[in-house]
Amino acid sequence: MKTLIQLENVSKTIKGKKIIDSLNFTIREGEVFGFLGPNGAGKTTTIRMIVGLMKMSEGDILISGHSIRDEFKEAIHHIGAIVENPEMYKFLSGYDNLKQYARMQKNVSRERIDEVVKLVGLDDRIHDKVKTYSLGMRQRLGIAQSLLHSPKVLILDEPTNGLDPAGIKEIRQYIRDLAEKEGMAVIVSSHLLSEMEMMCDRIGILQKGKMIDVQSVKGWLAEGVDMYSIEVDDLEAATMYLKSLFPDVAPENSKGRLIFEMDKEQIPILIRLFAGKGISIYEVKKVSKSLEERFLDITEKREVV
Ligand SMILES: Nc1ncnc2c1ncn2[C@@H]1O[C@H](COP(=O)(O)OP(=O)(O)O)[C@@H](O)[C@H]1O
Ligand SMILES: [Mg+2]
Repeated sequence: MKTLIQLENVSKTIKGKKIIDSLNFTIREGEVFGFLGPNGAGKTTTIRMIVGLMKMSEGDILISGHSIRDEFKEAIHHIGAIVENPEMYKFLSGYDNLKQYARMQKNVSRERIDEVVKLVGLDDRIHDKVKTYSLGMRQRLGIAQSLLHSPKVLILDEPTNGLDPAGIKEIRQYIRDLAEKEGMAVIVSSHLLSEMEMMCDRIGILQKGKMIDVQSVKGWLAEGVDMYSIEVDDLEAATMYLKSLFPDVAPENSKGRLIFEMDKEQIPILIRLFAGKGISIYEVKKVSKSLEERFLDITEKREVV
């Protein structure tokens, strides 16, 4: 899979304040990547730098291998984006809006206009006036407009903001289709975890301008990341021994139990080791955590640091 977006140590400082702090990540073709974070986390600022609306203070961004700093035109050519609400002529049809927009770009054929209309599922309504469109349909027209020049990368800042549940579902489906069928790399942002987990392949959690965690949604939901709870006779000894065996594991003590994250395969090994060390085990059980709980774990832990 080809890397289409690459951020290298991207930072932004405004009036002496670091708003974005050393972002490093890559996004491949066919992948939907989500920026998740509360208001003020830096989602829009990061997106504005990726689409070239704002200069970065440090680092570089490569789009399909082209540097935004050194090869701006080549890099930007590969991007389609909606950052602020797209401007539409409400008294023209969706189709005439696209034609109008296509005129401002190089080499957009009539066939391409029809193609993007199909892609966003507006075939039925494209000749109706935009003022009769629902917010979701306007959003889709905006996406169609940003796709006219056949970009490889699509970037949407809070695309589901203000939409009703049906509209959200539609947008989600079109975004997944663009990644899966067209092989585009897509960045979306949101402050809602529930929405991101349905739309994204990976989620990067932004907090105070830092990317504090990147998780694959599949991995996140997979069994491999289940938590285990063990009841033992000597909690202190068990905690120390566990930490010495698995330095990466951060066990928590709760109600006389040891709670930690571990691969399923390692549990029988751990039980044998504990037994060999003379630690008595009364109970071992798997405690599943929802994505929501894990997300809170991650954000709360970092808040303290
Ligand atoms: N032009 C600017 N000048 C000063 N501060 C800014 C500017 N743009 C954004 N910020 C600050 O940067 C932080 C991140 O903002 P933003 O990227 O809009 O967050 P988000 O989109 O995640 O809500 C906020 O604290 C915001 O006040
Ligand atoms: Mg924003």
